[in-house]
Amino acid sequence: MASRALFLCSLQVAFVILFGFAEAQLQLNFYSKTCPNVEDIVRKEMSEILSIAPSLAGPILRMHFHDCFVRGCDGSVLIDSTKNNTAEKDAPPNQTLRGFNALERIKRKLEKACPDTVSCADLLAIAARDAVLLSKGPTWPVWLGRRDGRISIAKETKQLPPPTANFTQLTQMFGAKRLSIKDLVVLSAGHTIGTSHCQSFSDRLYNFTGKVNLNDIDPLLDTQYISRLRTRCTLTDNTTLVEMDPGSFKTFDTSYYKLVAKGRGLLHSDASLLANSFTKDYVFKHANGLQSEFFQDFAASMINMGNVEVLTGNQGEIRKKCYVVN
Ligand code: HEM
Repeated sequence: MASRALFLCSLQVAFVILFGFAEAQLQLNFYSKTCPNVEDIVRKEMSEILSIAPSLAGPILRMHFHDCFVRGCDGSVLIDSTKNNTAEKDAPPNQTLRGFNALERIKRKLEKACPDTVSCADLLAIAARDAVLLSKGPTWPVWLGRRDGRISIAKETKQLPPPTANFTQLTQMFGAKRLSIKDLVVLSAGHTIGTSHCQSFSDRLYNFTGKVNLNDIDPLLDTQYISRLRTRCTLTDNTTLVEMDPGSFKTFDTSYYKLVAKGRGLLHSDASLLANSFTKDYVFKHANGLQSEFFQDFAASMINMGNVEVLTGNQGEIRKKCYVVN
């Protein structure tokens, strides 16, 4: 146990040096005494969950993003609405989230092993890391010690970038969370796994400027791809799911950048990465580049995102059930 603690400490120092990351509040060995098996428990559960429902990897990664962008990574996205309050979960951007039951299942296991100890916010950060790893993506050390928030307000989800966002909006919204343009172009590649509902991009196929006709298309979208997408989606379809990274939507790889480079990023926000020289260069470099460099970047940016506006120390609480405050 002592050698594991020493190893984690050195890892912590190495990461601070490598990534200039000096967040004092979260720690790599936060649960070493109170719940030493936390990461093993989450990994085992995630492996089982994804072996039964492989399509949950994307939703769980996305859930962590949606948690961190609204009130910080505090598990507020998991809280249910009540009679007097509509929670984040029921706001439009979150109505397409899935995986809540899977997370409650993991929480039950954690409560059994270490009652009242591991926050839902930490559980989600570890589960998102494992979702990526189990999709053949990179891994990274998850800094822990987040506390759970007690507040979840639907209208605060306006801090989440919409799929229609242009580059300026995206940089402003990431900047508001102290995330950089590099974080934006790196984390957008989360769209290498998972699916999207037609409603998130059908305006690009039929109604880009409100004229509703077959010529009213997003000029940033490849025309052959438009034809293919039209066979899947009508303008009003809000149920059909389309692979975000066709052909490899279950595998975490660099094919997202290949698509964006060809004008085949599914969302307008994906295409917007070509509107700035830094992000455009990154897209083109990684469309043909070394996967290992992207994996390293993704790990670093996920650590940055997992650090957004966290509650620590005596703030918030450790929820017993993720869907309801104590
Ligand atoms: C840059 C701004 C972003 C925008 C505008 C955006 C928007 C969206 C939208 C609209 C969908 C489809 C939802 C649906 O219709 O079902 C989606 C899916 C997804 N997003 Fe993002 N996203 C962004 C960034 C991110 C980030 C930072 C991550 C994680 C690192 C992420 C991970 C995912 C994943 C994995 C999916 C697939 C979800 C599934 O399979 O259900 N996104 N995103």
